[in-house]
Amino acid sequence: MVSVETLHLKVDPLNPEPDAIDRAAEFLRRGALVAFPTETVYGLGADAFDDQAVARIFQAKGRPADNPIIVHVADTWDVSRVAAFIPEIASALMNAFWPGPLTLILPRRENLSPLVAAGLPTVAVRMPNHPVALALIRAAGLPVAAPSANLSGRPSPTLGSHVATDLDGRIAAVLDAGSTGMGIESTVLDLTGGAPAILRPGGVTAEDLAQVLGRLPLPGPVGAGGKSPGTRYRHYSPGIPVYLVEGERDKVRRAVCKLLAELIAAGRTPSVLCATEHASGYGVPAVTYGSWNDAAGLGRTLYAALRAMEERGAGAIVAEGVAESGLGKAVMDRLRRAAHDHIIRV
Ligand code: TXA
Ligand code: MG
Repeated sequence: MVSVETLHLKVDPLNPEPDAIDRAAEFLRRGALVAFPTETVYGLGADAFDDQAVARIFQAKGRPADNPIIVHVADTWDVSRVAAFIPEIASALMNAFWPGPLTLILPRRENLSPLVAAGLPTVAVRMPNHPVALALIRAAGLPVAAPSANLSGRPSPTLGSHVATDLDGRIAAVLDAGSTGMGIESTVLDLTGGAPAILRPGGVTAEDLAQVLGRLPLPGPVGAGGKSPGTRYRHYSPGIPVYLVEGERDKVRRAVCKLLAELIAAGRTPSVLCATEHASGYGVPAVTYGSWNDAAGLGRTLYAALRAMEERGAGAIVAEGVAESGLGKAVMDRLRRAAHDHIIRV
């Protein structure tokens, strides 16, 4: 792959400088790749109608070709540029949650680059709630295809510097507006099957959705064979093994101690990833990522914590499970994917 000089454009997160936005929008119109902040994580954008531009996303990330990409819009009327049909329930959900961390799966239009949908007859669409993202999409005048701006399989970026670590030399520009808000990706909701189904838990919870749907959405298939191809892959993992210990609180602590002893005996140098309240007494470095009672806070810091542990040279990460209420569901989904087949249930 040809190396390019990546342009770093610092922007004010609330009032992005028009010069920087225009430069970035021009890159998108010419088929180049631009990373930009959203309220969830940084995205890696390309013109959703341009086949070659979308192909560059897959190349830059090392993304499997059968994993489709979310299209980002800045105005609801732009949804009809990419979706063939907008059911009433979709409009109601857009009214309630957009701009915001909810991605809707709809039947797709033919004019969209087929690579965006990875061969599926559907398209994923969302309107991000971030002034920089909205300004960029409007200035480009295009629906913007954008997966998270990390190398495939790595934790999603929540800082401009995370994007630089993974993608410098591979993309035209980064709009760096500092830290993203939620830190965990959008909820993916399928509206093309019988009943609405969550394909990936995220920033909008099942309970939030029930307010508009009138009942809870289906949980959707999790793991292998899922309808969201991205959920089939090992994900969100730093370059070191992650072990997840989940279950009853007092049993978790004992199981973590036992696992740490085993890892140390095997010559590894494990670190613990846990809530602030549970950090003391493990005898190995513990990285905390928020309070046990604040799932939103844990979600905000999770990916940065995983990357920091890798940078500090941990030989293994032993993560404690968190309570699965509210946003805790999305946090646990990401921890389970990071841990893959290293999950200990107690
Ligand atoms: O918050 C987010 O959603 C971030 C920001 C940048 O918007 N984006 C993001 O994109 O997380 P990505 O590519 O990392 O994850 C998109 C997920 C994948 O699991 C993918 O398989 C699924 O959405 N997806 C995309 N298009 C789909 C489709 N047509 N049908 C089913 N799943 C789809
Ligand atoms: Mg991703």
